[in-house]
Amino acid sequence: MRVAILTSGGDAPGMNACIRAFVRRSLWEKNEVFGIFRGYQGLLNGEIKQLESRDVGLIINQGGTFLGTARCEEFFREEGQKKAAEILHQHKIDALCVIGGDGSFRGLLALSEFYKGQVIGIPGTIDNDIPGTEYTIGFDTAVGTAVAAIDKIRDTALSHGRIFFVEVMGRKSGQIALSTALSCGAEDVLIPEEKTNIDVFIQRLEEGRRKGKRFGIVVVAEGDEAGGAFKIAEIVMQRTGLPIRVSVLGHIQRGGNPSAYDRVWGSRMGDAAVKFIKNQMTRVFTAMKGGQIVPAYLAEAVSGVRTVDPEMVQLVRICAQ
Ligand code: ADP
Ligand code: F6P
Repeated sequence: MRVAILTSGGDAPGMNACIRAFVRRSLWEKNEVFGIFRGYQGLLNGEIKQLESRDVGLIINQGGTFLGTARCEEFFREEGQKKAAEILHQHKIDALCVIGGDGSFRGLLALSEFYKGQVIGIPGTIDNDIPGTEYTIGFDTAVGTAVAAIDKIRDTALSHGRIFFVEVMGRKSGQIALSTALSCGAEDVLIPEEKTNIDVFIQRLEEGRRKGKRFGIVVVAEGDEAGGAFKIAEIVMQRTGLPIRVSVLGHIQRGGNPSAYDRVWGSRMGDAAVKFIKNQMTRVFTAMKGGQIVPAYLAEAVSGVRTVDPEMVQLVRICAQ
């Protein structure tokens, strides 16, 4: 078979481990394997190159994606999807694997209306917001990066007796915020999945001060419906006069060496994708369910945003008493 792989949307640490395993398992299965550079944009530009084993050497420990990634306007339109299908047919590609988030999966499903080969998704986004899978490549590293940053912020927060509002990534999702908050012993977590009640939030912060807490960390997801960390901090400062500082962690969460966890599960997902192709599957993605990698329909992945566990939100607050 002739199989191809591309990365699309936001990059995520562990994508390289995944590409490496996909390429080497494909070669093991005697497939010819092709890398498509710069996502759907690169596909439309015909940026396709055959890959050999040595092409994916020395990347397992690197963040980012050696294939490059992109966001592509043209691919949102039917003409773009038709053109991409034609290019894949010209190159006689039997199966296309896309590592990306829910947007990339939407694109893949749209492409499959015109492309005759098999399409397989691999969930790769630091946000871990894809329904139908407990894990997406990059989440573990991103949370690790946020936790390491907050461990430093805590030192200065404690020295000055300040409350820090730390904004983490998560465009539509509070998954990074929640895992980070629990790992850091944060005072509170503000996420888009839960409507922020400013009065209750302020009461909790003031109660903490009364109980003798000398400093505080509040983790805010960038997508929180009450606004970003700056906006919420301003409201709270005006109403309480508490000594508050804001820190927006931003894109450092997207980079850096992948954790062992992201390398292991990135590799296993790359491997699973080739097996799905061999088993004639299509329009599925490599999902983690109950700690196992299983096929799940792409349609499920694009059905909304993965929900957060409300007990985990409560646990952050219980532990912050
Ligand atoms: P992610 O995959 O990380 O969620 P995006 O949402 O930015 O990232 O999507 C990546 C790319 O996938 C977009 O730039 C676009 O080319 C393609 N895409 C996203 N949604 C669709 C869609 N509904 N139809 C066709 N292509 C899409
Ligand atoms: O989807 C991953 C993500 O890092 C989001 O958490 C964030 O909102 C977005 O990508 C940022 O995207 P960009 O690459 O456009 O800065």
